[in-house]
Amino acid sequence: MSEARRGSVLRQFAGVAVLLIFVGVPVAASAQGIPSAQVLSRAVQEAYDKFKDVRDGANADYIPELAKVPSELFGVAIVTADGDVYTAGDVDYAFSIQSVSKPFTAALVMQQEGTPDVLRQKIGVEPTGMKFNSILATQVIKGVSVNPLVNSGAIAAVSLVKAKSAPERFDKIHGFFEQLAGAKLGVIEDVYQSEAATNQRNRAHAYILFVSDRIYSDPMEAVDVYTRQCSIAVTAKQLAVMGATLANNGVNPITHQRVLDTRYVPRVLAIMMMNGFYDESGLWAYTAGLPAKTGVGGGVVAIVPGRMAIVGFSPRVNEAGNSVRAMKAIEYISDQLGANVFGSGR
Ligand code: DON
Repeated sequence: MSEARRGSVLRQFAGVAVLLIFVGVPVAASAQGIPSAQVLSRAVQEAYDKFKDVRDGANADYIPELAKVPSELFGVAIVTADGDVYTAGDVDYAFSIQSVSKPFTAALVMQQEGTPDVLRQKIGVEPTGMKFNSILATQVIKGVSVNPLVNSGAIAAVSLVKAKSAPERFDKIHGFFEQLAGAKLGVIEDVYQSEAATNQRNRAHAYILFVSDRIYSDPMEAVDVYTRQCSIAVTAKQLAVMGATLANNGVNPITHQRVLDTRYVPRVLAIMMMNGFYDESGLWAYTAGLPAKTGVGGGVVAIVPGRMAIVGFSPRVNEAGNSVRAMKAIEYISDQLGANVFGSGR
């Protein structure tokens, strides 16, 4: 491009930016394209206020302990790639991470192996279009276990974490999550015990993987470590820091520690976009347009690459196992910020 043409393009861009500020459209205020503090705090508060009275869905109860979590809890948090935190509601309540853990363990496995090919070759990355615990999906998809965000693929991912014992395997996962969160994270023992006593379906998944050489440690040990991983306690704020570490290309924006090599970040986000909401993943991409992951504990983390993580937490989940209020809050914020990765449509 000639000097003159470049100058003209820049002038046009500046003109559009001024126009957008004028008409009140939230435009990037910082060099990294992160909206201003005023825009972010308003978006978080509005999302909370707008959806706090929604009562749709119900606590998951196939893990009996989850049915006891107060259904009214609702928190919304944003952590930006430069470490600013915006919150509304119950953002300091520690809940079980559940399936929101899955992309982070997948990231750990890629980093351990030094290549993203490990997920492709040993687990798979295709969406199933089926429930998170579909035995049918695990049976019919051959060669690989499906993808690391449904239960069977997540159990396979745990089995790939190199360790000499189950406690060592769990400690590696737990330690990695703590680096992502920049905080000590507990385990909710009652949730662990409750799921361990009722996880026969996950054991069935592990044995199906075992008979077709798609699990890489003792199957029951993998299920147990996976169950414990799902019982790790996070607050909405801590989960938002974990997500912001992905948004910040693998560097924790609060501790400034590099936790994940940058080259794995797009792979993690891709599997989140394709599989994060199970049989609702297409709908989520269509509405919110952000890579994200849900858990039956009520947490949802969404990533705006290079800019921020948006977290919603609310225990009532829908048929697909995804938190109703958390989804609504994130969708609203995504729309307000024009954060959809496919374009804001404005
Ligand atoms: O394995 C399970 O069924 C649970 N520990 C996790 C499932 C889950 O979070 C589904 N997601 N929304």
